[in-house]
Amino acid sequence: MPPNPPRIAPFPAARLRRLRRTAALRDLACEHRLSVADLIWPVFVREGEGVAEPVPSMPGVARLSVDRVVQAAREAADLGIPAICLFPYTDAALRTEACEEAWNPDNLTNRAVRAIKAAVPDLAVMTDIALDPYNINGHDGLVRDGVILNDETVEALVRMALAQAEAGADILGPSDMMDGRIGALRQALERSGHKDVAILSYAAKYASAFYGPFRDAVGAGGRLVGDKKTYQMDPGNSDEALRLVARDLDEGADMVMVKPGMPYLDICRRVKDAFAVPTYAYQVSGEYAMIEAAAGHGWIDGERAMLESLLAFRRAGCDGVLSYFAPRAARLLRG
Ligand code: PBG
Repeated sequence: MPPNPPRIAPFPAARLRRLRRTAALRDLACEHRLSVADLIWPVFVREGEGVAEPVPSMPGVARLSVDRVVQAAREAADLGIPAICLFPYTDAALRTEACEEAWNPDNLTNRAVRAIKAAVPDLAVMTDIALDPYNINGHDGLVRDGVILNDETVEALVRMALAQAEAGADILGPSDMMDGRIGALRQALERSGHKDVAILSYAAKYASAFYGPFRDAVGAGGRLVGDKKTYQMDPGNSDEALRLVARDLDEGADMVMVKPGMPYLDICRRVKDAFAVPTYAYQVSGEYAMIEAAAGHGWIDGERAMLESLLAFRRAGCDGVLSYFAPRAARLLRG
């Protein structure tokens, strides 16, 4: 029981069904709503021109060449989606142990950022900071003798972040879970004149089975050696999420994220209640794939399940949600 349990008159003074009787009364009594303005749309970028290459484990999602990403950005802006988030599918030849392609000013992500900012300047562009799309072994950090090197990785992430800020990214999304990266990024951004670049920290990111389709999409899955449990969180932990969020805010994060989404709504609620800062969830690839697969079999109503799953994040306290459903949800929400 909460400390002040809600008061309620005994039946029949209270009949809770009274306010559910008609659509108008239900609308008036509704506590939480989903809006297009709550959505961030993650998209996958690949080389080429005029290419949309379907991702088999994510029906309805494709890797887009830069020109097609710009089209997607226009679509997002037209729908009222405030932000798009870029993830690169890097050519195999550019994946190395040192991950140099991550801070190449002309890598896929940075080219896409520049192209979007030139064509659709009002759309916020978010980028990902982690080494997995560039790493020969699929890890988010540099690896030596099977060990993830925290501090060396942070130095690489700083280089990567500065290249993205230089390209024009509005929001940086460190998804790597190294210790000390937010402070290092914030300091480097301040020193290099990028003081208005926002950081949306993947603060509470769990070592989850729900990332499988994403790893297919960026081509990191087949390469991954071992697992990510020495840097991503144990799904059994909850207090640790609050420590991570506190730490990242202290170091200069503007917004924080919980990831995955649906299995971690309790964490979203705890974070929002404890910190009252801009809080986001990532409805990850496996969550998307589950809903799409069930809908594809006709086992659930896909559109209703999509909207219900997104609304749940608002109810859990999130200010917004990253979701592959963003453009479809936006179209439905706009009627
Ligand atoms: C890695 C990264 C992952 C996702 C976003 N960034 C996967 C991972 O940690 O292995 C997952 C997103 C999704 O599943 O949709 N830096």
